[in-house]
Amino acid sequence: MIIAPSLLAANFARLEKETRRVNASGAEWLHLDVMDGHFVQNISFGPAIVKAVRPFSKLFFDVHLMCSKPEILLEPFAKAGADQIDIHVELGDQVTPLIWKIRSLGKKVGLSINPPTSMAAVEPFLSQIDCLLIMTVNPGFGGQAFITETLPKIQQAFAWRRDKNLNYHIAVDGGINFITAGECAHAGADTFVAGTGVFGFPSLTRAVTKMRKIVEKNAREDFKFDASKGFLLA
Ligand code: DX5
Ligand code: ZN
Repeated sequence: MIIAPSLLAANFARLEKETRRVNASGAEWLHLDVMDGHFVQNISFGPAIVKAVRPFSKLFFDVHLMCSKPEILLEPFAKAGADQIDIHVELGDQVTPLIWKIRSLGKKVGLSINPPTSMAAVEPFLSQIDCLLIMTVNPGFGGQAFITETLPKIQQAFAWRRDKNLNYHIAVDGGINFITAGECAHAGADTFVAGTGVFGFPSLTRAVTKMRKIVEKNAREDFKFDASKGFLLA
């Protein structure tokens, strides 16, 4: 199970300190939300910030591009220190060349899907990706309420992974707290992006530890079986 605190919920006036805090929290990934004010109605930060915080963390940097033109951003984020770059399936025809470009930069590939988009859109790409990032809120802002109707998508992603013998991570992003993380783990998620749900506590380490216990306890039996074969665990 992977816990991925989202820097979007950190104190932007103290990014070095916040990045160090995540690094020491026991989390495996740092999730970095990039918003362009066009694909979503908010602007967050660009490659310069990723580059600036990179020296303060050894964690796996998961860069989530909520951007209309990711093609102009892939190289800058790869150079800035991304380990994985997530693009959105809503970009349609651009998805295949974007996946190739991310691979050619030597980075892991994440594919993200918004709540209103059908899972049929991601199915053709499943064998080409390292992570399926299922949005459990409409992207753009931290602190929104989890959309329960997205849970069947997690079950679908889990069934496809098992039936097609694939090994992408199933990540959830948005409104993930101690309750919804358990529900998502039960549905089959293995990677939990959380902003407010962990940064909202005085001790990030305790929040990450608590979330990990909850998702491990709620993990599907068949996930544990897969995990025993060494499947999926990072
Ligand atoms: C939503 C972003 C999320 C965000 C989650 O647009 O993609 O990663 O940081 O924030 P919380 O956990 O506060 O919903
Ligand atoms: Zn995100």
